Amino acid sequence: MPKLSGEVRAASDHRLGFSSLDQELASTALPVEGRLPGWLAGTLLRTGPARFEAGSRGYNHWFDGLAMLHRFAFAGGTVTYANRFLDSSAYRAVRGTGQITYSEFATDPCRTLFKRVATSFLPPRFGDNANVSIVQRGEEFLALTESPLPVAFDPRTLETLGVVPPAPGQMTTAHPHRAPRSGELVSYATHFGPASTYRVYTQDERTGRRRVIARFPAPLPSYMHSFAITERHIVLAEFPFVVIPLAIPLSGRPLIRNYRWQPRRGTRFRVFDLDTGDLRATCQGEPFFAFHHVNAHERGDEIILDLCAYDNADIIDALYLDRLRTPDVPLPEPRLRRYRVPLGGADVTREPFPAISLELPRIDYDRHNGRPYRYVYGTGNDGRGGFPDRITKVDVQGGTSSEWSEPGAYAGEPVFVRAPRARREDDGVLLSVVLDPAVGTSFLLVLDAAGLGEIARARVPHHIPFGFHGGYFPGLA
Ligand SMILES: [Fe+2]
Repeated sequence: MPKLSGEVRAASDHRLGFSSLDQELASTALPVEGRLPGWLAGTLLRTGPARFEAGSRGYNHWFDGLAMLHRFAFAGGTVTYANRFLDSSAYRAVRGTGQITYSEFATDPCRTLFKRVATSFLPPRFGDNANVSIVQRGEEFLALTESPLPVAFDPRTLETLGVVPPAPGQMTTAHPHRAPRSGELVSYATHFGPASTYRVYTQDERTGRRRVIARFPAPLPSYMHSFAITERHIVLAEFPFVVIPLAIPLSGRPLIRNYRWQPRRGTRFRVFDLDTGDLRATCQGEPFFAFHHVNAHERGDEIILDLCAYDNADIIDALYLDRLRTPDVPLPEPRLRRYRVPLGGADVTREPFPAISLELPRIDYDRHNGRPYRYVYGTGNDGRGGFPDRITKVDVQGGTSSEWSEPGAYAGEPVFVRAPRARREDDGVLLSVVLDPAVGTSFLLVLDAAGLGEIARARVPHHIPFGFHGGYFPGLA
């Protein structure tokens, strides 16, 4: 029986971040310590899991919790906050019946053996619990997860508007990219079936019209949470964490538990031409696993590709809620790595790089996505496998890093916001939601991105469970 979050609600450590938040607030002015930059006029939108149980049953995994949207709106040196559950089918079912009705990443609905057999030839009923990331497509704001159902919402009221046309597969990424030259949204999906494929597709910003530019056979599809893009190519890093598609409906197990670690496959880097969709190269590399790519760019006849790497896929098991709520169990360490992917198809090599712990990486995306860059910001930890608690900045050209931390506090993904008329790449601020278990609440932290000095903080009236990703939208009030 999983530990329910009520048992950890009173925790004075990171476990508070895995306890449910019931309170929804309409736009509320937050007290500010320090001074928010006057030029900060826009909105930080975030999504993340906020309810970890349904009736008496708990979800199994951090990635399963029911999605909540959070909104921090900045204007004239002030900030207001609002939060609201995403009104997804999964959420409505839990509210209505107290039961888990849709399959999540690592939790399935309760089914009798009879029902399991009766439904075993149907695809899993994935919901629209979009708790991973947020993207703007034209006028639409979408919450995303890895099921193919994006959910549109109103960025001002956080009202859920509904599911928009799905991705062309049963599983996709919550990390689409913008093509650096055209600005088009680019993504990929895995289509499971007797002949499974990866489908790389673009979407028109205004019409939402989708165009599949590449279909590539994937007899054993890999779990790929994100991918890389450059000015001319996209790269799917096919980690050796793979699934037999036809086994999924028969197994009776939640989706992710069907994947297997097969290190002898190594990692296969599939390089596609962004304009034509042609497969340009398949390059073999060492076995490893990653959730997040940082950035990539062309350099002569190779692609330089940076990501947050784990030695294997054990991190997925380490993020089950039972384990996360057990004190002092170390987490596998993510390390920033740089790979060189030769366009001629030779083996991939790794550049020597200092061992720096980094997750939830952010860059100055608008200026440096798919192009050479210098700085990445992310979460870091104590180097002993503790839950990520600090903000780390890495100079990927110099190989050095710096940190912001506060004892007992846990910082989330730092979103970079460029200052107006910025001259340096790190001229701007970082926005991070920090859990402060000693007080029992969270605060929005604003750091100077250059020196990681604190500029301001604004305390929220409640705790915000650990989430994943968000975005800053300038001019959105
Ligand atoms: Fe992610």
